[in-house]
Amino acid sequence: MLGVGTAAYQIEGAYNEGGRGASIWDTYTGANTVGMPGSVCKEAPCPLNSVMSDKGATGNVANNHYHKYKEDVAMMKDLGLKYYRFSVAWPRIVPTGHMKDGVNKEGIQFYHDLIDELINSGITPLITIYHWDLPQGLLDIGFEKALPACDPQYQQGWYDCTWGEDGTPIPTGMKSTVAKEFLAYAELLLQEYGDKVKAWATFNEAWTFTALASGYGKAPSQQPYMDVDIWPKVAGHNVILAHLMVVMKFREMQKSGALTPEHKVFITNNQDWREPLTEKKEDIAAAHYLIEGGLGWFCDPIFGVDGVHDYPKSMRKTLKYLPKFSEEEMKLLKENKPDAFGLNHYGTSFVAYDNGKYTTTHAGLVQGKSSWLFRAAWGYRKLLNWVKNHYGEYPIWGTEAGWSDGLEDPLAGKQDSGRLTYYQTYLLESLNAIKEDGVKMESFMAWSLMDNFEWEMGYAERFGCMWNEFLWDKDPNAPSADTPIYNAYSGKVEGKCGDDCARQRVAPGPQRPKDQTRHMRNSMLRLIETWGSPTMITGPMQDDFFQAATDQNICFGHGTYETSDGIEECSPEALSTKRVVPA
Ligand code: BGC
Repeated sequence: MLGVGTAAYQIEGAYNEGGRGASIWDTYTGANTVGMPGSVCKEAPCPLNSVMSDKGATGNVANNHYHKYKEDVAMMKDLGLKYYRFSVAWPRIVPTGHMKDGVNKEGIQFYHDLIDELINSGITPLITIYHWDLPQGLLDIGFEKALPACDPQYQQGWYDCTWGEDGTPIPTGMKSTVAKEFLAYAELLLQEYGDKVKAWATFNEAWTFTALASGYGKAPSQQPYMDVDIWPKVAGHNVILAHLMVVMKFREMQKSGALTPEHKVFITNNQDWREPLTEKKEDIAAAHYLIEGGLGWFCDPIFGVDGVHDYPKSMRKTLKYLPKFSEEEMKLLKENKPDAFGLNHYGTSFVAYDNGKYTTTHAGLVQGKSSWLFRAAWGYRKLLNWVKNHYGEYPIWGTEAGWSDGLEDPLAGKQDSGRLTYYQTYLLESLNAIKEDGVKMESFMAWSLMDNFEWEMGYAERFGCMWNEFLWDKDPNAPSADTPIYNAYSGKVEGKCGDDCARQRVAPGPQRPKDQTRHMRNSMLRLIETWGSPTMITGPMQDDFFQAATDQNICFGHGTYETSDGIEECSPEALSTKRVVPA
């Protein structure tokens, strides 16, 4: 499977339309959620989280895909895309997160329409059930004073727990509200879309939305869950068991005939490669330790190592806090393994160990726009081999790999040589891993279809294979200078956003969102070549394909966009939705 991926919160926009409830990312970015189902904000301006890096950016409008999905699918078809991985926004389906409060028919219909449009265009959809946008109705927050942890009076999100006798939290696991609600939501999706969609991921990157959600950029980053040694481990434990519950349901539905044996359930986890800086034993051990503490944290329990489904021993030995699975849970994990090993991977770093400490460096590796992203395709190949050697013969589904830049102009953005080199080399090393190392790799999905809301970095880091014209504007529902700041460390609302939020070009404008245009980058041309597009290479777009390979700009959509030469127009008149504009 060769394709591209996106996630709901990063592209959909329409955050307060169509009956959608509030998500933790709306709250985190300081969007106006007053009156939305599940909202924790009573009065605008709603507080903005101090951990959010690009203050003022929100997913309120994003790529406006909710309204432009038809055009977007037409574009995907023109690009010759065959596989498309997207996520469903939980708060669009179950606005408060609680089934008892009702489901949102409009939201359910939206994904039916999207899926139908994809299938009718010859594109196979893969669904991610959870890509980080927890309904806010499942997580309370005290803006004046931190709420108590492990208290069943409150909604605790993924941190659901009780206190153990030794004073540490015990994750509530399969009994938690969040896991039960997640199962109910997942089951609803399987019932609704199961006859149309065969491949289902429970979670995207369990590590990222747990390990980085206590102050490292990701939502919710709130008290009393800021101790990074404790709370990510509590959340992670609940996530693993919630995943298990969905796999069990999936198998049950396969047995009853509600789903077929061709349906596949998996989970996508992530790991960047850690290369020992030298051949010293300590450096090798440190690199291995870091991979076990990232990927192994989730994949050892879920996929098993030598038949054991538990956290890596290295974690148990070194961490001051790590929850325990019961014998029964480990048995169920073993009996309910996923069908494929979903793997997101971006870059590589070198690891050295000295005197009880490890350091990571990147000498000689080219960096993307993101602080953490260093390119080394050989690292990807090594990781693929690590997964094969560690977990055995699961088919590996590469569900994300990608490169960021910050090019602000569609014509400059087109010349994305960093991304082009990235895909060129990563695809080649994938092929080497398959052919020479015998890795059972069955998919490569580029991240992402188009530039989008890059989480805490807002729109400053562009990962798209299509450059996106967002039409920056003032969004009355996004934070402004008067927006109060929620200090994630003190657990209180303190001060105002001020100049940070006053900057202009922070959010896609809501005024003319339908006018957004998407522009072909050279990396997209490279991908098209990979998945071999009949329409592009031999069909009506043939000429454009070759023109675009040189200096031309192919845009999709209606409306204007700005280049260094001035305002240009992208009109739908010529050839389906696109027009060639000479550079
Ligand atoms: C996530 C994407 C994100 C990308 C780049 C992955 O961690 O799944 O949502 O945009 O990395 O940061």
